[in-house]
Amino acid sequence: MFETAQAREMSGNELSLVEVRDLKKSYGGVAAVKGVSLTVKRGDAQFIIGPSGCGKSTFLRCINLLEEPSGGSLRVGSTTIDFDSGRRLSVREQASFRSDVGMVFQQFHLFPHMTALQNVMEGPVTVRRMPKKEAREWAASLLAKVGLSDKRDAMPRHLSGGQAQRVAIARALAMSPAVLLLDEVTSALDPELVGEVLAVVRQLTEEGMTMIVVTHEMGFAHEVANYVAFMDEGRIVECGPPPAVLDRPRSSRLQSFLRRFRTAQP
Ligand SMILES: Nc1ncnc2c1ncn2[C@@H]1O[C@H](COP(=O)(O)OP(=O)(O)OP(=O)(O)O)[C@@H](O)[C@H]1O
Ligand SMILES: [Mg+2]
Repeated sequence: MFETAQAREMSGNELSLVEVRDLKKSYGGVAAVKGVSLTVKRGDAQFIIGPSGCGKSTFLRCINLLEEPSGGSLRVGSTTIDFDSGRRLSVREQASFRSDVGMVFQQFHLFPHMTALQNVMEGPVTVRRMPKKEAREWAASLLAKVGLSDKRDAMPRHLSGGQAQRVAIARALAMSPAVLLLDEVTSALDPELVGEVLAVVRQLTEEGMTMIVVTHEMGFAHEVANYVAFMDEGRIVECGPPPAVLDRPRSSRLQSFLRRFRTAQP
């Protein structure tokens, strides 16, 4: 299932870092993702928009192997996984693939009994076997990057939502992922805290981090995305640069989504 050399030959395009082909995921009889193909180039910010329940989170969770796809294939870097072959992945294979794919969730999911610094150190120490001193310095530098040097010893319950989410981003970055998946990272925040998290995401795109970003922040998507994909009912309906997708939607489904979205905005 892991076809490193072959995948390198097949990929052809050195620049494409993530390649998803015909990905499917069903829960029992319910098809949540119905054959999604997507190519993300190194350094690109690929945004995904779409109505609630259309499969955005399931799609991201499949890329991170938090869900095992029901079919299709997935390549990150030089590692390809073919889910049509029927072979189950070993725990080791899953861990190795997942460590290349960072993910940040709407609800932060910080370890509640650890300080901000310990949260960021945890992955490098336990998964990468990084010496603690080195991990502490690395974690401190990442907390500085997200503007939280002064919160390194704070417990998660003493952080604001925006601060907790920035710790979660630093924790994902600590594993030096090849690609970062962000699933509605500002949706659980009070409006006045959204900006500080978006500023960190914007900074990451400027630094060339490859990202797949699910969001309802259309203005932000317009400004920061290289490409926007519109998902509906488990499929990508349109994908292109922000002006094409957000200003000149072709399908009636996207037109009505954007219209509904705009009228729902305060
Ligand atoms: N663990 C699960 N078991 C059964 N069905 C699920 C599961 N997770 C998701 N689904 C279903 O799959 C579909 C897609 O859900 P998903 O959470 O991916 O949508 P979404 O686009 O992220 O929605 P939202 O914008 O509300 O976050 C929905 O019909 C949902 O009910
Ligand atoms: Mg979701």
